[in-house]
Amino acid sequence: MKTMNPEERIISGDSSTTEEMSLEKSLRPLYLKEYIGQEKVKKELSIYIEAANNREEALDHVLLYGPPGLGKTTMAMVISNEMDVAIRTTSGPAIEKAGDLVALLNELEAGDVLFIDEIHRMPRLIEEMLYSAMEDYFVDIIVGQGPTAHPVHFPLPPFTLVGATTRAGLLSAPLRDRFGIVSHMEYYTVEELSDIVLRSADIFNTEIIESGAIEIARRSRGTPRVANRLLKRVRDYAQVRSNGVIKKEIADEALAMLRIDQEGLDFVDQKLLKTMIENYNGGPVGLSTIAANIGEEVETIEDMVEPFLLQAGFLQRTPRGRIVTRLGYAHLGYPITYTD
Ligand SMILES: Nc1ncnc2c1ncn2[C@@H]1O[C@H](COP(=O)(O)OP(=O)(O)OP(=O)(O)O)[C@@H](O)[C@H]1O
Ligand SMILES: [Mg+2]
Repeated sequence: MKTMNPEERIISGDSSTTEEMSLEKSLRPLYLKEYIGQEKVKKELSIYIEAANNREEALDHVLLYGPPGLGKTTMAMVISNEMDVAIRTTSGPAIEKAGDLVALLNELEAGDVLFIDEIHRMPRLIEEMLYSAMEDYFVDIIVGQGPTAHPVHFPLPPFTLVGATTRAGLLSAPLRDRFGIVSHMEYYTVEELSDIVLRSADIFNTEIIESGAIEIARRSRGTPRVANRLLKRVRDYAQVRSNGVIKKEIADEALAMLRIDQEGLDFVDQKLLKTMIENYNGGPVGLSTIAANIGEEVETIEDMVEPFLLQAGFLQRTPRGRIVTRLGYAHLGYPITYTD
C-alpha cells in the first residue's frame, strides 16, 4: 500500500528531511522558561526537577506521550539541560540486540538522561532488560555462546530514562508502570502557537505582523512543528510576492496555495472526510476500510490524521467505527444526511 510521503503533506506532524532536522535544532527551546505552552506538564516537571536537583539525585523516569510534533524530543532535551546532565538519544527500533542496549547504558554517567524515542517499538527482549535497569539500575546479560555462555551482572549508575511515544496505549503495562512521571502532551492553543511563530520568525530574522502569526497559528492543527513549517513556506511567499513582511493576507494566500483550508485541514484530511461522507454516508466505518479507501496505512491515519480530526470535532469514534460529525459535514459544505 502507498504510504504518505511527508514531503507531500506539509502539515504532517512528522519530521523527515535533514534540512528540517537542522531547522528544528535551531528553533528548539533549551530551558523550561523558553518552552511555550504545555503549562501542566511544565509545572509538574519543574517541581520534580527542582526536588531531584536539591537532593542531588537522578530525576525519576519520565514518559512523554502525545501526537507527533508537539515537543516531546524538545522536552527531553530541556529536562537534561535543567538537570545539567548529558543526554543520549536513541529510538525503539534502533535498539535491535541486547548488546545495543548495553552499549548505550555503558556510556551513562550518574544522573544522565537516556532518551528513547518511539519507545513502544522496542523488541520484547530489550524491553524486558529495561525493567531491571529502570527499577534497580542493573542488567543481567548472557556472555559467550554454547557451553561457555554465562550470565554477567552489570551494575549501572542511577540515570533517568525519558521515553516518548505517540500513544501511551501502545506501551505494555509493565513498562508503563516503571515510569514515575507520566506526562501527556496536549495540542497547543492558537495563542501559544502564535507565540511560537513569533519566536521562530525572530530567529529567522523575518518581519511578521501579529495578525499574520495568528493566521498561521490558527491553521497549524495545534502543532508547533506544523506551525514552524507553515511559517517557512509563508515566509518564502512573502519574500517573492510581497515585501517580505508576513501579514494576514499574505499568510492566507500562501496557505491557500498549499491547499490548507481555514481550519488547517489538508488534502489528506479532506479526502478522508469526503470519502466517508460520499461512500459511507458519514459512517460508522472501520479504520481499515477508511485506510484502504484513501490509500494510506492504518497506523498513519491513527497517528497523524485522525487525532486532530477527533480533537477538532470533525470525526467521532464509536464502538462501530468512525463517524463524520455534523461539524464535519458543515465544514466540507455537505448537507447533513443522517439523524442522531
Ligand atoms: N513549546 C515549544 N515552544 C517552541 N517550539 C517548540 C515547542 N515545542 C516544539 N517546538 C518546536 O516544534 C518542533 C517539533 O518538536 P519536537 O521534535 O520536540 O516534537 P516531537 O513531539 O518530538 O515530535 P515526534 O513525535 O515526531 O518525535 C521543533 O522544531 C521545536 O522547535
Ligand atoms: Mg521527537
